[in-house]
Order: sequence, then C-alpha cells, then structure tokens
Amino acid sequence: MEYALTEETPDQLATECLIVGIHENRGLSKAAQAIDRILGGEIAAIVQRGDIEGKPGQTLPLLRAAGKAERVLLVGMGIAGECKPGQYKEAVARAAQAAADLHATTMASFLPSIPVKDRSPAWALEQAVVATEDALYRFDRLKTKGPARTKPQSALFGAPGESGAMAHDALDAGIAIARAVSFAKDLANLPGNMCTPSYLAEQAQALGTRHAIKVNVLEKTDMETLGMGALLAVARGTHEPAKLIVLEYRGNGTAAPIALVGKGVTFDSGGISLKPPANMDEMKFDMCGAATVLAVMQAAADMKLPINLVGIVPTTENLPGGSAIKPGDIVTSLSGQTIEILNTDAEGRLILCDALTYTERFKPAAVVDIATLTGACVIALGAQAGGLMSNNEALGHELDEAGQYAADRIWPLPLWEEYQKQLDSNFADMANIGGREAGTITAACFLSRFTEAYPWAHLDIAGIAYKSGKDKGATGRPVPLLMEFLRRRARSV
Ligand code: BES
Ligand code: MN
Ligand code: ZN
Repeated sequence: MEYALTEETPDQLATECLIVGIHENRGLSKAAQAIDRILGGEIAAIVQRGDIEGKPGQTLPLLRAAGKAERVLLVGMGIAGECKPGQYKEAVARAAQAAADLHATTMASFLPSIPVKDRSPAWALEQAVVATEDALYRFDRLKTKGPARTKPQSALFGAPGESGAMAHDALDAGIAIARAVSFAKDLANLPGNMCTPSYLAEQAQALGTRHAIKVNVLEKTDMETLGMGALLAVARGTHEPAKLIVLEYRGNGTAAPIALVGKGVTFDSGGISLKPPANMDEMKFDMCGAATVLAVMQAAADMKLPINLVGIVPTTENLPGGSAIKPGDIVTSLSGQTIEILNTDAEGRLILCDALTYTERFKPAAVVDIATLTGACVIALGAQAGGLMSNNEALGHELDEAGQYAADRIWPLPLWEEYQKQLDSNFADMANIGGREAGTITAACFLSRFTEAYPWAHLDIAGIAYKSGKDKGATGRPVPLLMEFLRRRARSV
C-alpha cells in the first residue's frame, strides 16, 4: 500500500473513492461542504434526511461521481470538535474497510483534517496511515484458492494546509509504524511449522542487511558456554534449535541504550504440563513479544531515531519431547540462581530470565520486556490493555503515557514485595510458578529477580497481541506504544 499527501481540494481530486467526514447534529466537515457545493446540496439533503447521523465510524457510500471522484464515502466523525482519539481511529479504519468493500483500488481521505480532541494535526495524519494499514491488512499468502479480494493500493490524505514539513514528517512516521505493525503481524500469523526460532533468526539477519542494524545470533553451544540453563531447559523438549537473537541499532553515539527483550516461544504446547487441546493453535502467537521487538527495531532504523537500541529475542519451541524438562526438575539460570520448575507451561519466564541477565552486559539505561506471559492477564484486563509492571516508577509512567497517546494502552499492576513469597521453593532458590492467585504479578515477580541491575518494565501482552475467534490474528500491539515511547526518549536527549 502506498500513502501520500495531497494538496488538492476535494472537488478537484481524481480518485475511485473520496472520503469526507460528517458530524453529529447534521454538520458537514469542510471537505464535505466542498463536495456538497459541486453536488448542488445533495449531501446536505442526505444529512438532513438523517440517512447518516454522523456517529463515529458510521459510513454511507454515495454511488455516484463527484467532480473527478468516482464515488464519495461519507463517514461519521461524531460531534464537531469532540472527536476522541479512539473514535477517530475507528472512523478511519471503517472508512478504509468500506472503500475496500466498494472495490476501490485508490482512495483519498480528508478525515485527517478533522480536529481530534487532545491531539495534534500531525497525530491525526500519522494515525490515518497506521489505522488504514491496520484495517486493510490480510494474511492470505498461504491461501491458494478463492478470488483475491481487491483492496486500495494507494491512499491519499488531505492534510491541514498549514505546515508542509510537519505533514510530511507525520506521514513518514505513520508509514514506518504502519509497516512495522504489518511486519509484526506477518511474523506472528505465520504458523509454528514455518515461523520457527531459525526463521526468526533469519528474519533478524535480513533486517540487518536492509537497515543499519547489527545482528548476532547465539546458538545452543554459545548459550551452554554462557550458562543459560533456564532458556536451554525449555528447549530440551523440541528438535528445533533454540536461538538468542541480538540486534543493535546505533543512532546516538555511545549513549546507554534502551533494551527491548521479547518472548519468542514459536509454539507453546505447555511441554510435559501439556495444555488442553481447545485453541492450542493460538499458541503460535506466543512469539508476539519477539515480533514486536523485531518490528520496533525496523521502525526505529527506518525513522533514523537518535537513540541507541538493543533488541534481545530468546526463542524456542515448548514441546513435550523425550528429553523435555519435567515438573520438579531444578535448573541453574545464567544469573546463578536455581529454579524449581513446577510447571513446564510457565516457560516464558524461564527463557526471559536468562535473556534479562544477558542484557546487563549492554549497560542499558532502561529495559522493557514484552511477553505473552500469562493467561491471568487476559482475565484481568481483556483485550483492551496490556499489563504493566515495573521496578521503576518513572519508567512505568513514561510507558503508560506513551500508550495513552498512541491509543495502544497498558495498565499498571502492583509489584509489591508481599507477592514474592508465592515463589518460595523447598528445594531451589525459587519456583517458576506462584499459584493461582495474582498469576500475572507473580510471573513479573519472578522476572524481577533478574532485573535488579537496571530500570525495568514488563509488558504482559497476552490479551492484546492477538485476537481469537472470527477475527483470529495478530494485532501488532504494542508496536505503536513502544514507538511513541522511543520517540519521546529521542526528544528528551
Ligand atoms: N503463553 C502462555 C500464556 C498465555 C496464555 C498467553 C493464554 C496467551 C493466552 C504461558 O506460557 C503460559 O502457559 N502461562 C501459564 C502460566 C501458569 C502455568 C503459571 C498460564 O497462564 O496458564
Ligand atoms: Mn506456557
Ligand atoms: Zn508461553
């Protein structure tokens, strides 16, 4: 999909689908007024009749030409001046969907010129690209039959005329983030037999050849030498070789980097503590943290952000092979701490703890891990917000704010000392599970024992990284949140 700005007015624009906003209380946006004039008041009449009320995200196609546009799509944008960020994104997404349903191969939208509450015009433009790409995304490369659905190949956006440079920057940022989100979705939607740890390593290497990113892949023997007993313990149950992928992007000389650590379990069967069969296919999404890290590295390099960034991806399958770890087994982590594995399905924290200890060597200014870590987080927060736990209040706050701004939200859970005792073990330094209560928090408590050397935040994305049911598929979250976080860091140096 191609995205570009247009300086032309709506009544001058040649496109297969012209998209203009309608407000609640029968108001026409500026662009709708311009079309209304060349249609002799037809749009005002439609709105007066109440055929479209202007509720956010409502759409009404007019199957007639207007000026050089083949069709016009009216889109509800709520009460003028009151359009909330979430409503704006929803409206942009529905508009793109509707354009695709009309089989338009080109579209031109004036929705970005509509004011969004508490957001800048640049935000509106950036989000127009991100939300359009998100709405039109399909993973159909493995389907061999059926008509290829037509969808728009190019989108023009009518931006507020004021500052051309600002608009171009916003468009470019939107494109970089939109592509990163699609990249993350592609990696995660690919099935476990194709998206293996080796595949993720290849994808990382490919990133390194396309961008100014240094890539290093640690193999089993390297990890043995280092003493990554926890990560390697998970890998014992599968024939697929485990990897530790390390990516480095340097945009700010010798400054301390921000490190992103992503859980890369390419399939989580639970291991010997086998999961029940229902929806087990969705455990191919257990590498969404890894996909997020690779995607953010790509976008940061694309945008040439003036920061230093390290991406760390521990990746393996979790299968119940003959050499698999068993409940009761005790392993020694890279940190030297011993772990009693009471449940082999709590594998994410085992691969993350070694990756987090390894991260110390980069002397990071801050570390954020991203993981589909607990089913309990899905129960607690559903699909709306990821879980946020941190050993550093300022860092947690930064991430929270970035998520709110990007409309890619997370919500804090307490990481109190009192929860730590749930991890007590009679036989090792700690157990890898903490019982049924507060499962998301005790998982983070486990990780906190490996992150004392730096400011750290943990994002549990089990509920937001993918959708189930009819819309099953990866969401690319929390790429937008992290890109906002990194851009704020870049601005503050
Ligand atoms: N990958 C799962 C967490 C998960 C569950 C993600 C559902 C998305 C949807 C993780 O490895 C896991 O199995 N966690 C266990 C931990 C338990 C054994 C303490 C869980 O949440 O049940
Ligand atoms: Mn598991
Ligand atoms: Zn898992």
